Amino acid sequence: MELIIENLSKRYDQNWALKDVSLRFEPGMVGLVGPNGAGKTTLMRIISTLLPQTEGRVTWDGLDTRTHGQQVRQILGYLPQDFGLYPEFTARRFLRYLAAMKGLPKELARRRVDEVLELVNLQKEADRKLGGFSGGMKQRVGIAQALLNDPELLIVDEPTAGLDPQERVRFRTLLASLTTSRLIILSTHIISDVEAVASRLVILRQGKMLADTTPEKLLVAASGQVWSVQTDQHNAQRLQAEHQVSTLVAQRDGLLLNVISPTRPHPDARVVEPSLEEAYLVAIKAETGVRA
Ligand SMILES: Nc1ncnc2c1ncn2[C@@H]1O[C@H](COP(=O)(O)OP(=O)(O)O)[C@@H](O)[C@H]1O
Ligand SMILES: [Mg+2]
Repeated sequence: MELIIENLSKRYDQNWALKDVSLRFEPGMVGLVGPNGAGKTTLMRIISTLLPQTEGRVTWDGLDTRTHGQQVRQILGYLPQDFGLYPEFTARRFLRYLAAMKGLPKELARRRVDEVLELVNLQKEADRKLGGFSGGMKQRVGIAQALLNDPELLIVDEPTAGLDPQERVRFRTLLASLTTSRLIILSTHIISDVEAVASRLVILRQGKMLADTTPEKLLVAASGQVWSVQTDQHNAQRLQAEHQVSTLVAQRDGLLLNVISPTRPHPDARVVEPSLEEAYLVAIKAETGVRA
């Protein structure tokens, strides 16, 4: 199981949404992170054979996705960013319908629908209408449909947008439980979604690959660049104007800020351990030299 992306570029009209991206993936969970507009959806749609690239090549176990789309789709599961459900369908009926669309024979489809409902822990809600489902339940149906063919490659595009914190955590652990012996690529612009579940992070910004790294390495690279400062309103405003501030907490005797800066931003500032989110902000900033 190997996904190889070579010098991949995509242009929409005059704009390059992806520029010269090369990556190699083996089974495991990869977090694809980057701000809105970075090119995450474009990359995922190209891998999923739904969008042709302008330049470059994508292969799965040596099969070119452009010439072997049919074969690649057989091992692929995809949850798009804007996945729509039919509110009048029950979860079971909807999944059976999609299984038929995917060409699964009827008997196999029935069995697989029961299996995926169990995988995403919706067996009890299987005969309820989707219109009454919570955001988290809907996303679990989305994952269930992507799992119908037991894919070796699972691509999930911003699945946690719109979920509440409890649902996010549930969804995260669900995905982590599916990682054995498949490749999962999960995109998000919220780094905490991939914290603790992705062993690898690919950071995109404006169509270019900024980093292909691990959470640990990202933290190491950011060390010494996150500062804690306790100060008054006036200084806090100056710090916010001059630096990126990652947290700001009002306290009884002033404000407590975390500031991202390669050098000491204030005489009272002391270095603190970065969070993964702060490390990500450092990475994005280091590349551009301007404040994000
Ligand atoms: N169908 C399209 N036509 C023109 N431009 C597009 C289209 N889809 C995406 N883009 C542009 O390509 C860039 C990358 O978009 P996208 O892949 O959706 O990024 P992300 O998923 O990281 O937010 C953005 O600048 C976006 O405006
Ligand atoms: Mg997107």
